[in-house]
Order: sequence, then C-alpha cells, then structure tokens
Amino acid sequence: MLELKRKWLSALGALVIVGGIATTTDGRTALAKEKYKNIENVSHRGASGYAPEHTITSYQMGEKMHGDYIEIDLQMTKDGQLIAMHDEKLDRTTDGTGLVKDFTLDEIKHLDAGSWFNEAYPQYAKSEYVGLQVPTLEEIFRKFGKNASYYIETKSPDIYPGMEKELLRLIDKYDINKQKLLLQSFSADSLKIMNEMDPSLNLIQLLSYKKNAVITDEEIAKIKEYAIGVGPNHTYLNQEYIQKVVNSGLEIHPYTVNDKERMQQLIDWGVTGMFTNFPDLLNEVKKGK
Ligand code: G3P
Ligand code: CA
Repeated sequence: MLELKRKWLSALGALVIVGGIATTTDGRTALAKEKYKNIENVSHRGASGYAPEHTITSYQMGEKMHGDYIEIDLQMTKDGQLIAMHDEKLDRTTDGTGLVKDFTLDEIKHLDAGSWFNEAYPQYAKSEYVGLQVPTLEEIFRKFGKNASYYIETKSPDIYPGMEKELLRLIDKYDINKQKLLLQSFSADSLKIMNEMDPSLNLIQLLSYKKNAVITDEEIAKIKEYAIGVGPNHTYLNQEYIQKVVNSGLEIHPYTVNDKERMQQLIDWGVTGMFTNFPDLLNEVKKGK
C-alpha cells in the first residue's frame, strides 16, 4: 500500500480526535490543511525550471526544495544502459545530435548536458551547469540511495525491447524501497509487463488529452487491473474528471503544473499530487502562501 494513503488515513484519524473543524492560523480548517499537506510534490525532471533537466544537479535541487519524488524519464543506449533523458534524440538537451539508441554510454558521457539550459534560460543560468553529464539510472540510485522516492517513466518502450527487465533488475540490484517507488508510462503494455514481472510495484498510467478530458468507468476498471493511479496532462482536466478518478480509488497526478493558481485549483478539485518543474512553488501553495 502506498505511503501516501497511509498518511491520509493517519491524518484523518488525528482529525477525528481533535474534531476536524479547528481553523488554523492561515484561515484554513485543519482538514483542509491536512489535505494540502498530503499532496504529492513531484519534481519533474528534477527542479527543471531552475537547472538543466535530468542532471544530478537538478534532482538535488528538487530534494532541497522538498519535492516528494524525483521524476526520471528513461532512454536506453546502444549498449543497453538506462540513462535519464526525456527525448529519444540527444539534440535538445546536449551538444550531441542523433538518437540515443545509436550511441554508447561512453559516447553520451562525453556530451555537455548543461550549457543548453544557460542559453535557453539566461535568468537561471549558472557557470556550474556547463559540462554537466547525462546520468545513468545506476548513478542516480547510488547518489540518492535506496530510500529516496523515485517516480520513473519507461519512455519509448517500443524501441527499447527489454527496458522493463533492465529497470527491474536495477531496482532489485540497488534494493530500492518499493513502498516509495512509482513507475509510470504512457504505454499500457510497458506497465503490464512490469506488473506481470512484479505485482507489488506501484504503477501510474500516463494519459494525454487534446481536448476536454473524459474517462469512462470501463477505462478506469481496465487501468485498475494493473495501476494504482493515472497521470493526465493538466490542461484539459475538470473537477468532474478528477472526482470520478479519485472516487474510484485511483491516485491522480496531473503533469506539468508550473503556475500557482492552477496548482491551487487542481488541489481544490481533488488531485492527490502533481508534477511540477517548480517544487518550491507547489510547496508554497501547500502551505497556503
Ligand atoms: O511523466 C509525467 C510527464 O512527465 C509526462 O510527460 O513528456 O514530460 O515525460 P513528459
Ligand atoms: Ca515524464
């Protein structure tokens, strides 16, 4: 069972004891305050609003800003190593060019994964970002340890056969705490492979909507066969959708929410967490600031 569910239950228990209607100093009821506190804050590609995405520096910044999870997108190199990168191509976030799958880890390790950020976001540029390396999943596990909370996405599983097997091998090799681990994918097939390999894993089905989001009872029932939650893009969400998902017992973590007003609205509508490039902003919202 997820830690966050346990947190909710204990919070509700505490509120029963105190009556649940006390108003806190910021004007919210104790119950509302608990609800905000339990919203999962997912540092999307690390604190990627402030540092080059998917670098150790970005993940460290996410931790410093009290993100609850480190979000990691996975690609696989020519020699079968899992690395943290969003795109299938090297071009946007390194000084290399071409598909990740056509390069060995050694070749990718020679690339600069930080300078692009300084050029794209001069307001957040830092000299220390120049020359940052693309991390492997193993390096991330070694750096942050077995008890960190990871939220890992299998990207492009169709072009990387065996990606799930390698991911689960590394989770076992580094004895990663599965209670704190979430695995996510847009590919239901990829999630089902992992569910079959290890039914104890907590999985999130990513979803993408291009217009007003609607989810049927049948879709929810199918997702519940292997996943404990959904991660839809936030843009076209509405309260009805969120309430339907939450009432079904699924978690709902929309992506990628970078605006405080929208964060507030989604929490009011009932989401249980969200992905953000600015974990500090979400924490401000959670604290009623
Ligand atoms: O994993 C949640 C969100 O990151 C999905 O979109 O494209 O940013 O990986 P993307
Ligand atoms: Ca992702």
